[in-house]
Amino acid sequence: MSALPGSFEGTAVTGLDSSPVEARPEVLAQLPPLTVQHEAEAAEVMARYPQARSALLPMLHLVQSVQGYVSPEGVGFCARLLGLTKAEVGAVATFYTMYKRHPTGRHLVSVCTNTLCAVLGGQQIYDAVAADLGIGHDQTAADGSVTLEHAECLAACDYAPVVTVDYEFYDQQDVAGALELVAALRRGEKPPPTRGALLTDFRGVSRQLAGLSQHADAAAERAAVDGPSAGVPTLIGVRLAAERGEQAPAMPAAQPDEPEAGTPTPEAPTPGSTGAERAGDATVAAASNPAEKAGAEQVHTDAPEPAGRQPAERGAEGTDTPPTGTGAGQNSSVEREV
Ligand code: FES
Repeated sequence: MSALPGSFEGTAVTGLDSSPVEARPEVLAQLPPLTVQHEAEAAEVMARYPQARSALLPMLHLVQSVQGYVSPEGVGFCARLLGLTKAEVGAVATFYTMYKRHPTGRHLVSVCTNTLCAVLGGQQIYDAVAADLGIGHDQTAADGSVTLEHAECLAACDYAPVVTVDYEFYDQQDVAGALELVAALRRGEKPPPTRGALLTDFRGVSRQLAGLSQHADAAAERAAVDGPSAGVPTLIGVRLAAERGEQAPAMPAAQPDEPEAGTPTPEAPTPGSTGAERAGDATVAAASNPAEKAGAEQVHTDAPEPAGRQPAERGAEGTDTPPTGTGAGQNSSVEREV
């Protein structure tokens, strides 16, 4: 039976993991305490929501950023500040696999063993890392350096097989690469992820997931946000669409809200610009990183006609939308003949 975190009476059988929550006194005695500073940070998180209880998920990450897992004390902390029962907090904390039941090592290594990664070697990677560390799923190496878990799809199938460390991606791994990655982590190194922000550690990224900065200053924070978040495989679809001259249907022009009295009239659109062009401008302007911006520019209606096959060439080959008068009509006549 598993103890529901923070309660003596319950059992935690929701979710896939029903292992007991760590509550041994000798372990609890070593946890950093949740202090008034953490209460102030929790208040900052709670203030972002119309209803305080909506802040439960980031607050559980805040607890993990301090204690490395959702401890019984952490459940009580959230329940007290949010006006919830411990059972309510425990029900949420035991449902999601990102909330841990035992103190996590300095780094959390997740190996995707879901379909695409598995067929490309994910299971072999997991088995090799587990054997090397001498631990299994959801267990921590004796030196406290690494907690290992197998993970369901990490939403990076185009980079399979993938491993994440503290949720940062290490793409297209193989057994040797993954073993070296784990060995480097155990030596105290932080190998740069394939894309995204630089590696910190599990507690640091938990703080970030709580919606608080894990960086010492604004420049470090900006550098992490500006890290490349997409690579070649993810952009292949965009590039092929640009090469073929394919575009998504234009977004309907937004209907302006009725302006309030005294509100200055918005600037009239540039004469001759279309709704699609304005939508394209807005998408480019809203891009939050260079890769997104490049993708948005590629599909902008102002973009120069790309090299490669032109729309008129495609119809003749019958690989894309057929020219008027063919296609559906032809198929219909074939069907009739058959
Ligand atoms: S199957 Fe591994 S990332 Fe999708």
